[in-house]
Amino acid sequence: MSATTQGQAILLRGITKSWGETPAVDAVDLEIQEGKFTALLGPSGCGKSTTLRIIAGLEYTDAGAVWIGGRDVTALPPAKRNIAMVFQSYALFPHLSVAENIVFGLRTRRVAPAERQERLKRVAEMLELSPYLDRKPAQLSGGQQQRVALGRAIIAERPVCLMDEPLSNLDARLRHEMRSEIRALQRKLGFTMVYVTHDQVEAITMADQVALMNQGRLEQAAAPRDIYSRPATVFAARFIGTPPMNLIPPQAFAEAAGALQSEDVLIGIRPEVMHLSTQGPLTARVTGVEFLGSETLIDCVAGDGALVVKAPGTVEAAPGEEIAIGFAPQDVHVFDRGSGTRRDEDRETIAAQLCKSNENKEVRQAGGIPGR
Ligand SMILES: Nc1ncnc2c1ncn2[C@@H]1O[C@H](COP(=O)(O)OP(=O)(O)OP(=O)(O)O)[C@@H](O)[C@H]1O
Ligand SMILES: [Mg+2]
Repeated sequence: MSATTQGQAILLRGITKSWGETPAVDAVDLEIQEGKFTALLGPSGCGKSTTLRIIAGLEYTDAGAVWIGGRDVTALPPAKRNIAMVFQSYALFPHLSVAENIVFGLRTRRVAPAERQERLKRVAEMLELSPYLDRKPAQLSGGQQQRVALGRAIIAERPVCLMDEPLSNLDARLRHEMRSEIRALQRKLGFTMVYVTHDQVEAITMADQVALMNQGRLEQAAAPRDIYSRPATVFAARFIGTPPMNLIPPQAFAEAAGALQSEDVLIGIRPEVMHLSTQGPLTARVTGVEFLGSETLIDCVAGDGALVVKAPGTVEAAPGEEIAIGFAPQDVHVFDRGSGTRRDEDRETIAAQLCKSNENKEVRQAGGIPGR
């Protein structure tokens, strides 16, 4: 394969699409950098496929504009947008062989037979399809058919590639392999990738930028690390990370509650940055313990809020037990309870208040290393 497919930037401005009362996509503004991998992430029905289809030109936006490679393509049909696409339901030609399906686009573009064969060989090897090139799609498993659809898009070497849940029918091993294959290929060829998934692990392991959607709206678009370390909303905080970030009402923090009572906030602390301490700042009652080998998930309640502590596997706790939970002030997130948006202006002050009683306390676990 040629090592340079110059990617093109994509710009979405006020993209909106409604079929009924509620918009499927609602005023989405998004900048997709050229040559980078952007994942469109979000729960089922949030508008990912619709957004992708609007980029492709398979749906037209009710308002706003789509720009690809510095061109306003809002009114252009798919064929004029110079993109390759893999659909959620792969549409293969049933009467053509696997090989013919893969090279179909190259044939219509009049790519020379020798180059066609060369590209086919590489793509087939990468996708583990070499033994099946003479078969018809009906003679393949679902996962194999999906790989044929992938091959057809990859072989086109277009500046923009759009993929809609391309790995959904693959087993765990193949899915894992294909993730890194697709990522490596995108880096090597340098095309711009927009990749739809509802799987947060897939999104954060593959993407340069994660665009998180919720009910037709863009919640946050940022690098995986940034969305994890500075979630813009309660939704983003809960969607990225396993188990999700704990969101605790300030009243649960007995010692600090007085100072924070007037504040209409939620305190966000990830389970993996909490550790068991000898005393506060948070005390909770254990409701369940899940031992996972290298780590233990401790479910508990503090005040009337439920939370999870992700401790090392060596830590033991029993249901009914009272535990004290420690954390560092820099690991505290503050959200506005009403709007659900991140509050940074008084985050440090609030975090310091919460952690006051935590000073100079030893952690309970032997060795004294907090459960990170
Ligand atoms: N052609 C259509 N006609 C009417 N409603 C539609 C149509 N296509 C999508 N919708 C609705 O628009 C919303 C967004 O759909 P979309 O397919 O974009 O979601 P998605 O995020 O891709 O979900 P999934 O993860 O389940 O594929 C849904 O409520 C869906 O029912
Ligand atoms: Mg979809």
